[in-house]
Amino acid sequence: MNQTAASRPAVEKPAVGRRVALVTGGIGGIGTEICRQLTQTDCKVVAVDLAARSERIAAFRDEIASSHDAITFEPADVSDFDSCQQLVARIEQQHGRVDILVNAAGITRDASLRKMTPQQWHELMRVNLDGVFNMCRNVVEGMTARGFGRIVNISSVNGQTGQFGQTNYSAAKAGVHGFSMALARETARKGVTVNTVSPGYCDTPMVAAVSAEIRAQIIADIPVGRLGSPADIARTVAFLAADDAGYITGANLPVNGGYFMSF
Ligand SMILES: NC(=O)c1ccc[n+]([C@@H]2O[C@H](COP(=O)([O-])OP(=O)(O)OC[C@H]3O[C@@H](n4cnc5c(N)ncnc54)[C@H](O)[C@@H]3O)[C@@H](O)[C@H]2O)c1
Repeated sequence: MNQTAASRPAVEKPAVGRRVALVTGGIGGIGTEICRQLTQTDCKVVAVDLAARSERIAAFRDEIASSHDAITFEPADVSDFDSCQQLVARIEQQHGRVDILVNAAGITRDASLRKMTPQQWHELMRVNLDGVFNMCRNVVEGMTARGFGRIVNISSVNGQTGQFGQTNYSAAKAGVHGFSMALARETARKGVTVNTVSPGYCDTPMVAAVSAEIRAQIIADIPVGRLGSPADIARTVAFLAADDAGYITGANLPVNGGYFMSF
């Protein structure tokens, strides 16, 4: 059905100025590209990552933040609730609000379950799942009160298919989508959307860490015939974070080159 301009739903416009986006894992392989692409949609972007990664932070400041004045860096540990609370308070004080939250911080602690230690289990859960709770819990009230928000949580194809040696990672990533669907229901009437993006294997340090043999096998199994790029993932995040994406919520967007197809 053709819609005239008059009958098309109005796109929500920012009440004041540019959208403020917060990207956790913001100096990582995928997070950096998400920051870059969000500035191209005219957002002010705050990259959030561990203060301990001082070399990478310096490189990020030199290579990215220096040429994109809309990107700044803030240290925080997403596994620590108080750190997230203080971070959001700082951003709200500096920029007035947080409109977009992208949870891209993540770690792996691979081991077959037979060998997995409780420490490997808990460390991963604290970052990959508690981290999503800690950040969402601290931005959601402001977003719903202002009547606008976009939350995009980065999950993984391995949360959909399971992966050998990744009971912890697969459980956390599947949990991220369950969390997103539940929060999407809680916030849908308040202008806040919550979605998941599930990357397949991407050309980042996380995947570079696997052996050349396994890497070649992974690529052979991807119908598109290559690893994903951080730009492939960032494009999807920017799409979901846009003002006019308000009718997409509780969705999981797979970006995996056809590696896992489902409906
Ligand atoms: N690379 C892939 O192929 C792939 C595939 C599927 C999903 N993912 C997911 O995409 C996201 C980004 O992955 P990536 O490949 O860019 O990895 P990466 O390791 O390059 O980036 C992850 C970032 O998270 C940060 N981080 C870790 N613990 C943190 C904490 N406690 N607080 C704040 N920041 C913390 C790291 O310092 C790092 O900069 C992750 O959630 C990952 O699970 C990646």
